[in-house]
Amino acid sequence: MKIFVDTAKFSEIKAAVELGVCDGVTTNPSLIKAAMEELKMGMEDYIKDICRIASGKPVSLEVISTNAEEMIKEAKLLHTRFNNIANNVVVKIPIATATEDVGSCDGITAISALSDMGIKTNATLVMTPEQAFLAAKAGATYVSPFAGRIDDYIRTNMDKKFDKGDYFPAEGLSNENDNGIVSGVDLVKKIADIYKNYGMKTEIIAASLRNPRQVREVALAGAHIATIPFPVIIEMTKHPKTAEGIIKFSQDVVEEYKKIFT
Ligand code: E4P
Repeated sequence: MKIFVDTAKFSEIKAAVELGVCDGVTTNPSLIKAAMEELKMGMEDYIKDICRIASGKPVSLEVISTNAEEMIKEAKLLHTRFNNIANNVVVKIPIATATEDVGSCDGITAISALSDMGIKTNATLVMTPEQAFLAAKAGATYVSPFAGRIDDYIRTNMDKKFDKGDYFPAEGLSNENDNGIVSGVDLVKKIADIYKNYGMKTEIIAASLRNPRQVREVALAGAHIATIPFPVIIEMTKHPKTAEGIIKFSQDVVEEYKKIFT
């Protein structure tokens, strides 16, 4: 499974690239907003720097409009303006852009058109396997199921009290409001199963990940990629027995062994 870093903060992207574990970058308007404190230049130059430091690894940049025609226009603009830096721009298109009651095919229309033009797309805000199926049929390069937000949704709609941080295991906590999707990881798994059944080429980016266990579970569920916030990557290195072990090893170094290193 590849690792993308889920941030627009240049410092975090740079750190992930330097760790040698960064296979790509995902941004969205909220992540750009959170990165504003690091913006010491114009936005255009800042994004160019992100594309450059990712050095050829895919960088997802999101459109801001909600109708197909405008999204296609914006996608072409993002592509023209930034793809020449490192040939790595992927345009993020929300899978649907209207309210739940109304529904909309604008995302699908935009993905189809962009796919015909050879512009890579990442279908975002994907909350059901059906949306993911349509995105793949339309030719999306990537699809981003939002695992963490699905857990939030189930938590909100369940007739049960949860603490904010309560973890939803892959097998979930079934209830009548879950639409047959019992956790965010379960959403990823169902999409992976459908894509496998039909040999669909769209790659699954498990998104909206909040903790290391979710990363592990989406890997087991068959995600091609996990897009991970940088602090969660750091969390993934931690274990109390690792910390205890390194202290003990340091204490046990004898002089004779130390000399080897001088
Ligand atoms: C990445 O592509 C998504 O935009 C991101 O993972 C969303 O994460 P959030 O639900 O924590 O905002």
